[in-house]
Parts: sequence; C-alpha cells; structure tokens
Amino acid sequence: MSDKELRVSKIKDGTVIDHISGGYALDVVKILGITGREKRVMTIAVNVPSKRFRAKDIVKIEGRAPSPREVNLIALVAPHASINIIRDYEVVEKLEVKLPKVIEGVVKCVNPGCISNSNEPAVAKFYVECEEPLLLKCHYCGYIMEKSDVLQQL
Ligand code: CTP
Ligand code: ZN
Repeated sequence: MSDKELRVSKIKDGTVIDHISGGYALDVVKILGITGREKRVMTIAVNVPSKRFRAKDIVKIEGRAPSPREVNLIALVAPHASINIIRDYEVVEKLEVKLPKVIEGVVKCVNPGCISNSNEPAVAKFYVECEEPLLLKCHYCGYIMEKSDVLQQL
C-alpha cells in the first residue's frame, strides 16, 4: 500500500459495510440508527476510490451487527454493499446484500390514498422494477417509488 492510499484501522469485533454506493454511507448510518453518541468506535469513509466502482463508501462499527430489517434497507440504498461480520479481527461472515424481487413491510407507499396507508391491515408491498436506478412498484396502487422516496423514510 502506497502512502497515497487511504488507511483505515481494522476493527476487532463488529461490522464492516463495504462497497456502499458512493455518497450513501450516511444513509446507511441512519438505517443503523447510530447517532455517534453510543460510545462505539465507528469509521465512515465517503467517496474513496474503488477498483470495482468509481467511488465507494465504507462504514465500520465496533460491537454491532445489522438486523435482517436493516440489511433489507441497506440493500435498497446500496445494492452492491457487502456486510462483513468481524470477530477477533477476522472476517467470519461475508454477506453480499441482494434485493429480493418483492419487498414487504420495509418501506411505505408514498401515495397517501394507497390502501396500504389506510386503516385496513394491508402490509406495504412492492415489486422491484429496477435495481439501479431503484424503482419500486406498489402492489396495491401501482405507484412507482424512487430511491429519493426511500431515503425520505429513513
Ligand atoms: N476489515 C476491517 N477489520 C478487520 C477485518 C476486515 O475493517 N478486522 C475490513 C477490510 O478493510 C475490508 C472489509 O473489512 O474493507 C472486508 O475485509 P476482507 O474480506 O478481508 O477484504 P476484501 O477481500 O478486500 O473484501 P472484498 O472481497 O469484499 O472486497
Ligand atoms: Zn401504494
């Protein structure tokens, strides 16, 4: 590694979310519900050069693993992210996030008139029409949601 490359400390126990689409690290942090005042060590790198993509973001958090719901949300904002679980400095698990074809109960439909927003017990359900740029089609009203609609719900 040359002295021109970014050097970020390895973590001991926790999670490294790597290959986040450039510019979305702070949304990932929001998904994890982290304020920075938890006394956990956390590193956020934004728009660092990447071989695989033009630019990527990385989030490293000590002592924390994402829940399945958080993983689903991360897949929506960073479809190429890899989630590395670290124990005693070793990667013990590597999860490449993947968007399912159908997304249920993770995000709400932004159409206020949608039946999923009424008092009826209808769980919000979307079909992934496109991964990048993200397009989600509501099962009930057909409304097409974009990534910006998802980011507003975080
Ligand atoms: N990492 C870390 N602390 C550790 C171990 C790994 O911060 N104790 C980070 C690495 O810096 C890297 C990510 O976790 O950003 C994944 O580690 P590893 O699988 O060893 O790296 P790569 O092989 O480069 O991963 P990939 O193939 O996903 O790019
Ligand atoms: Zn709808």
